Amino acid sequence: MTTILAIETSCDETSVAIVKNRQVLSNIVKSQINIHSFYGGVVPEIASRQHLEIINQAIAQAFTEIDLDWPDIDGIGATCAPGLVGALLVGITAAKTLAIVHQKPFVGVHHLEGHIYATYLSQPELRPPFLCLLVSGGHTSLIYVKDCGVYETLGQTKDDAAGEAFDKVARLLKLGYPGGPVIDKLAAEGNKWAFSLPEGKISLPEGGYHPYDCSFSGLKTAVLRLIQKLETEGHELLPESSIIRDIAASFQETVAKGLTKRAIACALDYGLKTIAIGGGVAANSGLRQNLSTAASKNNLQVLFPPLKLCTDNAAMIGCAAADHLSRGHISSLNLGASSRMAIKDVMELYSATR
Ligand code: KG4
Ligand code: ZN
Repeated sequence: MTTILAIETSCDETSVAIVKNRQVLSNIVKSQINIHSFYGGVVPEIASRQHLEIINQAIAQAFTEIDLDWPDIDGIGATCAPGLVGALLVGITAAKTLAIVHQKPFVGVHHLEGHIYATYLSQPELRPPFLCLLVSGGHTSLIYVKDCGVYETLGQTKDDAAGEAFDKVARLLKLGYPGGPVIDKLAAEGNKWAFSLPEGKISLPEGGYHPYDCSFSGLKTAVLRLIQKLETEGHELLPESSIIRDIAASFQETVAKGLTKRAIACALDYGLKTIAIGGGVAANSGLRQNLSTAASKNNLQVLFPPLKLCTDNAAMIGCAAADHLSRGHISSLNLGASSRMAIKDVMELYSATR
């Protein structure tokens, strides 16, 4: 058994967790959303400052809920990439300091690998291979999970992430930040067939379209044009108007259908029987409905971890760190933060030996 204290500070959640292999012992998540919503999106400098102000308190709190102390901890994990560099540095520096003071190995974790490990926390029996559809505010990828540290990205967005598209469309509709939950709510009362919107296909040089890649920026522009057209026609787009609900429902259905089509095609083409979903957009009811229906039609299993584990949290980082540490994968104390890093390069994080 490997017990990890893990820290996640890659964006706007300060989180500290203690995890024993695939079991969450404590998971403290302090969201900064109320602060950033005032600015309509995450402000990197404010995020770093906020992490710094509450990280020590979050570390202490992770221990207060459980009957463990430092001698019970086998290693310290922290998200190192990708993410906002200033924000990541707060978590990495705290983790390295704890590793030095308590003489524990330091295990850097790739944020997207963490999202994949969220599924193991709710499905401890799950084993690779499987397909992970990762849909958050910063990422939209279809990842072939082969083993711990062994991943292949089969499809991804070529521009905006799915959550970013929800946030941008919500901004166009003056619905505030984050946009996903409010669009989801309005869409439930709208007509998803009211407006026809473009799916965001990616052309291939040899002709035809990429089967798994996607794009959301054209869809966002199409919503903007639609709003402009409706306004010139004299429609008033108030949050309580049925037309806003119809736009929300049509937009959500376009995103959900596009993601579902690609995930199912990818799983079938690669002979993968299970699709696990991660990231904040996994909460979306349109996506859940479309994917569940399509998966059962195609004899595939689709796993939606509880939302608490889909959105950013340190428990998923701890679960990944525990698996790496149990295989002897340790990071150097010289490891820094990176804003970008492909998931196929995950093993570059582990250059140290015990
Ligand atoms: O994974 P997450 O908490 O943070 C990262 O981006 O890493 O994802 C946040 C994103 C936001 O863009 C938010 O609008 C979106 O997830 N989101 C949703 C829903 N709930 C959150 N998008 C669609 N439908 C939802 N119900
Ligand atoms: Zn994330």
